[in-house]
Order: sequence, then structure tokens, then C-alpha cells
Amino acid sequence: MKKYLLIVLLFGALLLTACGGGAQSSDQTVALDPVPADYAGKSNPLGSDASTAGAKVFQANCETCHGPQGHGDGPAGQALDPKPKNLPDLAAQVGDDYLFWRISEGKPGTSMVAWKGILTEEQIWQAVAFIRTLK
Ligand code: HEC
Repeated sequence: MKKYLLIVLLFGALLLTACGGGAQSSDQTVALDPVPADYAGKSNPLGSDASTAGAKVFQANCETCHGPQGHGDGPAGQALDPKPKNLPDLAAQVGDDYLFWRISEGKPGTSMVAWKGILTEEQIWQAVAFIRTLK
């Protein structure tokens, strides 16, 4: 019985350390890059109804990697390193200027390319409006 208790205690301690480590390396604690001056403070010039057009932009250009709801579960995203992360989670932490900047300029070191030149500014703002509707 004593031995059993010891094992339970040891196991509990192990579990606690494992969980603590996991929380520290979680994505949520990674600081986000600051928005460069060229983009900082920009806000969406389009109304929220732009999200309807944005849904089409997203389906055609982003969904294969980011997934239909932006959860990072698109078929083409699975093989990537890093994988696309959860866009609604990110959107809750950043302003429209951040999203517009990232989509326009891409994310160095990842498969996220710069979309300016491929999409118009209006289409990028529409995509931003759509991302704002995701949960
Ligand atoms: C080839 C796959 C791929 C496509 C297509 C793609 N992305 Fe990405 N995207 C990524 C990856 C990989 C990242 C980097 C990991 C991450 O932060 O999600 C990323 C990052 C992002 C980020 C920024 C995340 C951050 O941390 O700053 C946004 C916003 C974004 N994508 C939106 C879009 C939009 C909108 C489109 C379509 C116009 C699109 N992506 C198309 C793969 C893709």
C-alpha cells in the first residue's frame, strides 16, 4: 500500500512538470511582431458586408492551407512547417493593420507568401473582413 502511494505521488509530480512545460512553450505566449510604420494604424476602409466578398477571396486563395474556417486545417497546410495556425485566435489578439500587413507582405520563414500584386488592396481588406467573422 505504501509503495502504491509513492508511485501515485511520483506520477502526479511528473504530470505536473509535463503540463507546466507545455504551457510555457504554447503558441499563445509567443510575442507577435510589431506592425511596420507603413502599415501601422490602418483600418479597414470597407464595411463589414465586405466579408461576403472576402469569403470568396478566402475560398479561392487561402482555404487550401488555412482551412474553411481558418483553423489551420486545410489539406495543403498539413505538410507545412510551420503549419498555418488558428486565424480566429490570432485575429482576437491583433488589429486590422496587423492582418492587412501580414497578408500583403507575407510571413518570412513560412509558406505564407506576399499577396499584394496577386490580390488587389480591396480584396485583401475583404479577406480581413472575412477573417473577422471567423470563430
Ligand atoms: C501555401 C499555404 C498558404 C496559403 C495559400 C495562405 N497562407 Fe496564410 N499562412 C500560411 C502559413 C504556413 C503561415 C504561417 C503560420 C501562421 O502564422 O499561421 C501563414 C500565416 C498567415 C497569417 C499571419 C499569421 C501571423 O502569425 O502573423 C495570416 C493573417 C494569413 N496567413 C492569412 C492568409 C490569407 C488571407 C490567405 C489568402 C489570401 C493566406 N493566408 C494564404 C500558409 C498559407
